[in-house]
Amino acid sequence: MNVQAETMEAGAAADLCGPDMDVFKAAMSDMPAAVTVVTCRDWQGRPVGTTLSAVSSLSLAPPMMLACFDVGSNTLKALLPGVDFLIHVLAEGQEKIAYGMAGKGTDKFGDIECSAGPGGLPQIAGCAAVMHCSVGQRVPGGDHVIVTGNVRRVTRAGAVPLVYHRRALFPIPTQTQE
Ligand SMILES: Cc1cc2nc3c(=O)[nH]c(=O)nc-3n(C[C@H](O)[C@H](O)[C@H](O)COP(=O)(O)O)c2cc1C
Repeated sequence: MNVQAETMEAGAAADLCGPDMDVFKAAMSDMPAAVTVVTCRDWQGRPVGTTLSAVSSLSLAPPMMLACFDVGSNTLKALLPGVDFLIHVLAEGQEKIAYGMAGKGTDKFGDIECSAGPGGLPQIAGCAAVMHCSVGQRVPGGDHVIVTGNVRRVTRAGAVPLVYHRRALFPIPTQTQE
């Protein structure tokens, strides 16, 4: 088989096996996800952080979380093994924080009510929950890196969490408990 034919065959196979990317993206947007902001400090002590929906619980014993970062994330650069960070579960009314922290640059914290959390980590006020973690492993996954977090401490405010669904933010619908 010549090189051209081999390449065409590989391309045809990829077409048959790979998903339609628009459908894949739409299917991912069908999956409701909590809206979180991860914060930490970089090697110079400056606050860094970003909005993430690809965050999940990972383990109960020991308690662990995971967060998936695009390889181009500035926040990811600071999250080396052993580094402490906070996962904030955003609450109803914190949509502006979600979009603000999804931007690029070094001045993202300017308009956000923040205090010094554990170890001086930037802690955002008014969140539904905050998890203090330290980085365990960094595992490559395509164009993202999975960061595992060993959970040290959790605080909850009992507020209604925000959810990200079909590229929009909503307070999660609350049900009347019988
Ligand atoms: C609702 C929402 C969810 C997001 N989820 C993720 C995510 O799970 N992973 C990711 O890498 N980026 C996600 N982003 C995009 C990042 O927030 C964005 O790329 C940000 O600019 C990265 O900032 P940094 O480079 O300062 O870390 C999300 C953005 C929004 C608005």
